[in-house]
Amino acid sequence: MSTAAVAVWLSTVVTILSRSHADRNVYPSAGVLFVHVLEREYFKGEFPPYPKSGDASNDPITFNTNLMGYPDRPGWLRYIQRTPHSDGVLYGSPTAEHVGKPTVIEITAYNRRTFETARHNLVINIMATEEFPLPYQAEFYIKNMNVEEMLASEVLGDFLGAVKNVWQPERLNAINITSALDRGGRVPLPINNLKEGVYVMVGADVPFSSCLREVESPHNQLRCSQEMEPVISCDKKFRAQFHIDWCKISLVDITKVIPVYINRPDPGTGILPEFGEYDPPSESLKSRDYFADFLVTLAIPSAVALVLFFILGYTMCCRREGVEKRNMQTPDIQLVHHSSIQKSTKELRSMSKNREISWPLSTLPVFNPVSGEVVPPIHPDNYETTSMPLMQTQTVQSGPWDEFVKCKN
Ligand SMILES: *[C@@H]1O[C@H](CO)[C@@H](O)[C@H](O)[C@H]1NC(C)=O
Repeated sequence: MSTAAVAVWLSTVVTILSRSHADRNVYPSAGVLFVHVLEREYFKGEFPPYPKSGDASNDPITFNTNLMGYPDRPGWLRYIQRTPHSDGVLYGSPTAEHVGKPTVIEITAYNRRTFETARHNLVINIMATEEFPLPYQAEFYIKNMNVEEMLASEVLGDFLGAVKNVWQPERLNAINITSALDRGGRVPLPINNLKEGVYVMVGADVPFSSCLREVESPHNQLRCSQEMEPVISCDKKFRAQFHIDWCKISLVDITKVIPVYINRPDPGTGILPEFGEYDPPSESLKSRDYFADFLVTLAIPSAVALVLFFILGYTMCCRREGVEKRNMQTPDIQLVHHSSIQKSTKELRSMSKNREISWPLSTLPVFNPVSGEVVPPIHPDNYETTSMPLMQTQTVQSGPWDEFVKCKN
């Protein structure tokens, strides 16, 4: 191993060690808003000072956050960073189902000037709470805040202090924070320092105070329907810092919540009926029983074929009507007639075989086809020997022929 390689290896080990030290553990409670600020100051130390930089402390830094081994964050965890010169914030409300397993979030910081990166791990250990969930939940809409401003601990603390003041609960928690943009709100015009607005949900253990219920009075309902501000006696407790839209407050007593889907209206045509939750087929499949298929496709046709085979075999072997039966049914005179014809035919055939020994004289050429001369027979010897016996055999062997003619008559 060369010195350079050793140096690289050493630096890798040191990086890994320093990385493992960089793991941070946090212990949020289920059902309570969790906020974790990714401070630019904290990550700046990771990037070596840039020699020629005038103002290294103001490098633009952005963050990428994901669940370890996955491309994105878990569903309950959201992230916001307004500009590369502001801190990033992880926030969200873990629920009871996330308790137990530590959630490892990989945080990658990018220095947008030097293009260096640094990686830290954040281990989120979600703890169970006995009082979860708090039964009385109120959601406020705050008009003059952006979500990341509201997430700052002192601002959120101020807000919870004001709520505590008008509600007087034993326990009070922020449960959730949502930007109005995520609820269909519009991006404000860049004038008058307008803000996006933010919904803050808090939970408490005592029923809603009379002040929080003031908006439910007929007078205030009328004002809300006319888009006028309702008159709320405790609004002044918030007014200095928070502009609350009291018409949008929602008060939920989760002990009295009726499931909304019981009286759902008829969806009408064009909408498929609800089939409930998707139930995927199980991973372990039962082995299929092919016995019935075997019976239908193989056994029954084979049985039928076997029966046919025996029926045909019986009829063709045991019920056969052979030559004997035919002869018995034919009159004797016909049989004699027939057999004599057969005998004669055989004789004629054998005679014609003998004749093929030589060519009949009449088939040999007598005249030269070109000159017209009379040509003597090609084989004078054969003429004597082959043509004469032919005539002789015909006369000699006329016996059977006569017999045949006789029989015919
Ligand atoms: C918090 O708000 C977000 C966005 O509105 C929502 O998706 C999430 O379910 C809420 N979480 C809880 C615990 O209410």
